[in-house]
Amino acid sequence: MNAVELIERKCDRAALTDDQIRWFITGVAAGTIPDYQAAAMLMAVFINGMDDDELATWTDAMLHSGEVLDLSLIEAPKADKHSTGGVGDKVSIPLAPIVAACGVAVPMMSGRGLGHTGGTLDKLESIPGFTAALDPDRFHQVLAAEGLVLAGQSDTLVPADRRLYALRDATGTVTSIPLIASSIMSKKLAEDLDALVLDVKVGSGAFMGDLERARLLAKTMVGLGAAHGLTVEAVLTDMSQPLGLEVGNANEVAESIEVLRGGGPDDLVELVSYLAARMLMAAGATGSPDEAALSVAGVIESGAALDAFRRVVAAQGGDTSVVDDPAGLPSAPEVAEVTAERDGWVTLCDARTVGVSAMRLGAGRERKEDEVDHGVGITLLAKVGDRVELGQPVAKVRYRSLERWDETAPFLAGAWQIDDEATAPGPLVIERVG
Ligand code: URA
Repeated sequence: MNAVELIERKCDRAALTDDQIRWFITGVAAGTIPDYQAAAMLMAVFINGMDDDELATWTDAMLHSGEVLDLSLIEAPKADKHSTGGVGDKVSIPLAPIVAACGVAVPMMSGRGLGHTGGTLDKLESIPGFTAALDPDRFHQVLAAEGLVLAGQSDTLVPADRRLYALRDATGTVTSIPLIASSIMSKKLAEDLDALVLDVKVGSGAFMGDLERARLLAKTMVGLGAAHGLTVEAVLTDMSQPLGLEVGNANEVAESIEVLRGGGPDDLVELVSYLAARMLMAAGATGSPDEAALSVAGVIESGAALDAFRRVVAAQGGDTSVVDDPAGLPSAPEVAEVTAERDGWVTLCDARTVGVSAMRLGAGRERKEDEVDHGVGITLLAKVGDRVELGQPVAKVRYRSLERWDETAPFLAGAWQIDDEATAPGPLVIERVG
């Protein structure tokens, strides 16, 4: 087969055959298809989409591009959660230890920052020494010992996604329903789960700006799960403003630790608790939402969830002292403020603008080879529904390069809209699919 012919076929809107798709994805994983051809195919799929059969085969080929985990020796039910990507979305970091402390095993395979959205792996790697690159044996060992594991795609686990993910990030091909659905579901299907909860983000900071597309993405992923015998529930949640108050990497880990200590901002705590309860129910560990909520609150209050996090950090080589003292996490040296341009009520704190600003400051990658700066970040001091006075700080920013900050500052200031009339934020959990 010939990669150019397949790219041309997709450009001409013809469907690719099973064999063609499997040949292409195998070549991506093996590195025999060069970046420029893989990127061209991604753009052709981005523009022309895939039909249901193509998507099922593409996902299956990605899933089998590496080893598929066999976790049958783990006795506890196994559940995971995956987000379609948002700004300030650090939910996985407190969620996984909470659910593990409730007795459900969490074999979590996460992603890196994509576009203007942050990635769980980049955030976790701000913990000195922490490694998310685990081979299947080590993945299994950590899960068996700690009840959870926080890893990424690797040369052995879903290697096709590892490459395609990085190329999508650098080629403007992220916001494609088949590419997001296959990326997420190939990783999740490789985890040998009993239940999966998907957090499908909707709003300016999400890849799906409107409810219709978010519903379609949710249904597509639920369908891919069903075709592989996996129970999947998708929850559509608001991403019109960032989640929590911290946007970056190390600062998001610190905020996650606050949640595990029983604190943290209300919206983040609400979503973590809600998704944890859905996971416990989906895994059959609790019968009712009330019972699940009690278990979640119980493991936070007793310290069991924080302890589970400390243990998994240690098992993955991380410095556990930062769990007790997040001041030990990296922090960029320079600090600036964004101030309110008038008196009034915050009616918008635009997630996309904040996410793009954080990325430009170095919290994400503009090019595939860029290194993430774990210490830069934005702390939101005013969100929708807050009253502010002219000149009052609405954000504190940690940065390293004055040049980058000078370029970003006016753009970031545009994230806040301040009006005479107050509006309350919309619901965080919008609806469930599946
Ligand atoms: N998370 C993933 O793993 N892949 C995507 O494409 C988006 C979010």
